[in-house]
Amino acid sequence: MTDRSDLEARLDGPDRIAPPDEFVQQANVTDPNIYHEFEQNWPEVWERAADLLDWDSEWDDVLVAEDAPFYEWFVGGELNASYNCVDRHVENGRKNQAALKWEGKLSETRTYTYQDLYREVNEFAAALRELGVEEGDIVTLYMPVVPELPIAMLACARIGAPHSVVFAGLSGKALGTRIERSASEFLVTCDGYYRRGNAFNLKSKADDALLKVDHDVTSVVVDRLGDALPHVVDGDSRDYHDLLAEHAGAVVEPVARDAEDLLFLMYTSGTTGEPKGVEHATGGYLAQVAWTAQSVLDLTPEDTYWCSADIGWITGHSYIVYGPLALGTTTMLYEGSPDYPDRDRIWEIVERNAVDVFYTAPTAIRAFMKWGAEYPERHDLSSLRLLGTVGEPINPRAWKWYYEHVGGGECPIVDTWWQTETGGMMVTTLPGVDDMKPGSAGPPLPGIDTEVVDAAGAPVEDDAAGYLSITRPWPGMVRTLHGDDERFIEEYWTHPDEAPTSDQSDGGWRYDAGDGAMIDEDGYVTVLGRIDDVLSVDGHRLGTMEVESSIVDVEGVAEAAVVVGAGAGGSDVFAYVSTESGRTGDQDLREQIVGNVERDVGEFAAPARIVFTTELPKTRSGKIMRRLLESIARGEPLGDTSALRNPEIVGELKEAARED
Ligand code: WT7
Repeated sequence: MTDRSDLEARLDGPDRIAPPDEFVQQANVTDPNIYHEFEQNWPEVWERAADLLDWDSEWDDVLVAEDAPFYEWFVGGELNASYNCVDRHVENGRKNQAALKWEGKLSETRTYTYQDLYREVNEFAAALRELGVEEGDIVTLYMPVVPELPIAMLACARIGAPHSVVFAGLSGKALGTRIERSASEFLVTCDGYYRRGNAFNLKSKADDALLKVDHDVTSVVVDRLGDALPHVVDGDSRDYHDLLAEHAGAVVEPVARDAEDLLFLMYTSGTTGEPKGVEHATGGYLAQVAWTAQSVLDLTPEDTYWCSADIGWITGHSYIVYGPLALGTTTMLYEGSPDYPDRDRIWEIVERNAVDVFYTAPTAIRAFMKWGAEYPERHDLSSLRLLGTVGEPINPRAWKWYYEHVGGGECPIVDTWWQTETGGMMVTTLPGVDDMKPGSAGPPLPGIDTEVVDAAGAPVEDDAAGYLSITRPWPGMVRTLHGDDERFIEEYWTHPDEAPTSDQSDGGWRYDAGDGAMIDEDGYVTVLGRIDDVLSVDGHRLGTMEVESSIVDVEGVAEAAVVVGAGAGGSDVFAYVSTESGRTGDQDLREQIVGNVERDVGEFAAPARIVFTTELPKTRSGKIMRRLLESIARGEPLGDTSALRNPEIVGELKEAARED
């Protein structure tokens, strides 16, 4: 452990922290020249990322921009993601190394070696084939974090069937919409899972979803709960473990997939209520996540690595499953929550498994900070070498707490900015190369180009706030929105004629990230947050529209606005609601609101607090002033309210928020 006074001096000094020497000496990437190399030899230099993979046939072109912004990467190449994440490690003499280490909700543990993973992925791939899944068919997966989820993902990849994972915390209704939209005819789900120790039925949510789907769906059910819940396998569904037994020892040849073939679909929230089906291609995606797992997370096959996200979101896809497994690392899967059974649960797992690299979200770090340093202090965290964060901006105070109390002042922190649509990390320091600046994510990665622009698309000056945009394509980028090329262009892209980028080498299209940001004189990007009506709840993206329309469906509700405020275990949804009668609501109305949101969106979006008000604060143009509501929810100073049409409401709102 670093000397305390020395550490404090370093943390209080200029806000620029050099990576600890001991880390740099062993890091995968240490040469600052890497930025220059990518600049000089772009896009061909991306072959480095592709070379981390085994290809069935070599690509002809690294990048084809003919049909921009429908860019294509490693065109003509063929590969299989499951082969790259499983078989090749078995063939390379590491079959007995742990691939997956699972920590269940009730402290159960399970370990799969690469050989175990190989066996079960093959058996399940054979089972999927028997059920009729063919190359190109979309398979929906609706499961909590259990080993069967990554196994099913890899089994799909093996036979060339794109998966569409739906977060288990989303409602049956949301699942149904996604199944319908993607015309998916196969569903793999689970009987249920534990919520704070109680058995919770997931299968019934899935059944609800299927009632509303017009086409036939074949389902497979994993028995997670054993005797805690009757395991119902009815009508069209099959039991996962029965299927494995039927296909015991089966070997399924991995299908050679075109680099541009769809690896998976991931639905995410946008500004409208319609979920967006983000498509990721096999070659570019896998190359970028493997390359960033190596250069940013610094992973090696020897590491035990833990990303505490849920596999049901992009972070889990890229940095629990595909990135780490492509590198042959041991990746942890955690089903539980950070404070069950106690608030030291995370640190207990780090210590017991001697975790080397830990990746989590700012919302979790803020909760750890609130609970106090005594919890990490109870445990020996000296196995940790590197820490990461993702999902929302991290404030310098939380950054420093993480650095000091979790990393002991000896682990670099990578603050990684990226999105469902980018597939992999985009803006972050390289931990073996760059100094860190708490609160700023860092420079764009080698090969990535960002620009902060004003509303007209013109670059702003250093340190001025504007819209974060990406001015060159990248391998892991979204290829399109499922079934909606037009919306893909509309949502994300600006044509070079409208706002030329400084780099025209590949057509000059500009990708609009939807975030506000600033770039400083060193090229470090500070991300300010979403500029559209999208919230981040515990690292999950949530459209305000989806929640608000569900709330106003409740009889008697006039208007609603939701924001994210500080909650007990991280971030919570706060709802501000006005009623038709002007009544400030009663218990019954509250319950209906929560019930509606759980039914329509999912339990994770259910408002933890509902504040009734006679009116919502609006600007003169009639827009709800969400920023103000956010400040009230967080107990922060309110800032400038002069743009309000109804400033008198502020006092009432503060009062109501206090009382609630
Ligand atoms: C949005 C994307 C990428 C996985 C998790 C969320 C915000 C993400 C950071 C960061 C500041 C961040 C942005 C982005 N975000 N990482 N390091 N600093 N903001 O994926 O659900 O697609 O959300 O998360 O607002 O646009 P997502």
